[in-house]
Amino acid sequence: MSDRRLMRSLRTAFGVRRSPLRRGAGWLDENLGGGSKLLRDELRHIFPDSWAFFLGEIALYCFIILVVTGIYLALFFHASQAEVVYQGSYQPLVGVPMSDAYSSVLDLSLDVRAGLLVRQVHHWAALVFVGALMIHLLRMLFTGAYRRPRRINWVVGLSLLFLVGFNGLMGYSMPDDLLSGTGLRVAYSITESIPFLGPTMASLMFGGQFPTSGIIARIYPVHIFLLPAGIAGLLGLHLGMLWLQRHTEFPGPGRDDRTVVGTPMVPAYALRTTGYFMLVAGVLTAFGGLLQINPVWLYGPYTAWDSTTSAQPDWYMGWLEGAVRLFPGWDIQIGSFVLPAVFWPAVVLPGLIFTPLFLWPWLDGIALRDHGFHNVLTLPSERPGRAAIGAGFVTFLSVLLVAGGNDVFAAVFGLDLLVFQRTLQVLVIVLPPVAALFTYLVCRRRSQRWLATGR
Ligand code: HEM
Repeated sequence: MSDRRLMRSLRTAFGVRRSPLRRGAGWLDENLGGGSKLLRDELRHIFPDSWAFFLGEIALYCFIILVVTGIYLALFFHASQAEVVYQGSYQPLVGVPMSDAYSSVLDLSLDVRAGLLVRQVHHWAALVFVGALMIHLLRMLFTGAYRRPRRINWVVGLSLLFLVGFNGLMGYSMPDDLLSGTGLRVAYSITESIPFLGPTMASLMFGGQFPTSGIIARIYPVHIFLLPAGIAGLLGLHLGMLWLQRHTEFPGPGRDDRTVVGTPMVPAYALRTTGYFMLVAGVLTAFGGLLQINPVWLYGPYTAWDSTTSAQPDWYMGWLEGAVRLFPGWDIQIGSFVLPAVFWPAVVLPGLIFTPLFLWPWLDGIALRDHGFHNVLTLPSERPGRAAIGAGFVTFLSVLLVAGGNDVFAAVFGLDLLVFQRTLQVLVIVLPPVAALFTYLVCRRRSQRWLATGR
């Protein structure tokens, strides 16, 4: 009698039932010829224990929360710019003509049960999502996690960041309040500034010359379906590659390119990550309940001839806004052809930032003459040049981000706006190389000390 048959007869004799997991594995073996071994191996997939890996998980959980809260919002949001007269419970706007979209967001905020909480959780989840992705990306950058065999996954991750930021922009453009309309006007002008193609592209995207009455209806399916589907697909690809390639890990005793040190997926990691999900959901719900965000009723409906003071985009678009504010107003005119000043900071600069960023794993490989496979990460001090470029890049974006809110900073700290603007124009050029040099020297010193003392 085979071992398996013997076990089965013993279990029947003593009335012992097999656990659902074992029964599932048995079913796989019977029907797919040995599938339980595969399942067992996958359930034992090892996840590293470092805190740094939590960043990617925060991003994933924010996405789940965005989908769940977004579905609730979609039940009440009207993607229409047809004019209505507001009759809801917010007294200062009663009797004011506005778009159906704006009126539905006012209802969502002030009359729909839990509407404001869900709106605010949705908005906070978007802000934290991009933040987690950005810090996750910087962790990759500073530790060389993008080297072979993860170069394609770096590109997938960066595309993810791009789509999420863009979907956030679409999202906060939908309520059709004065702030979102101001953002859309900026987006229209930037698109229009592209030489030759720009005006046609802007007109195709917006359905005519700004302001148009159909833009919200166009954005809506992109925001709730197209981009989320793209993001879900990229997330799946990102995680699938991660699973097949195994995880990177920080250097340390017992770590090499062939082993992984950490926790198996079942049961420890599965329980831990469920806890992380609860934590992210809890923190975002607390944010949504306690911290006001995007109070659209205070801004009023969008009208093309009005503008809010201190109009700010969401933080992840702030660097682009800052670049536009800092760049001098140099329109270039050749005959009847005009190249608007906004083209350089809003189209050329993002191209100059994102193209090398996408190619970074290959550029880094060429610069360091290192095309090998790496599963163990490097510490920033081991590669001072890489750390220096990273620090310069972060400093550059940080100055632009501050510049995106220059009017608010000037008002809050009582600064002269023009002097502050000029200071930022100087700092954006001077600070990044200073930060890069400082980082280079600190990292080199650390690596020299490590070589000399082993500490
Ligand atoms: C990556 C995914 C997403 C991001 C980054 C994102 C971001 C945003 C942001 C920032 C807003 C403005 C919220 C506000 O009014 O303060 C918004 C609005 C909205 N979102 Fe999303 N969202 C995402 C996915 C979704 C999904 C999957 C749905 C629906 C299934 C959805 C439905 C909506 C609706 C209906 C609104 C308009 C209502 C409102 O503004 O309150 N979103 N989104």
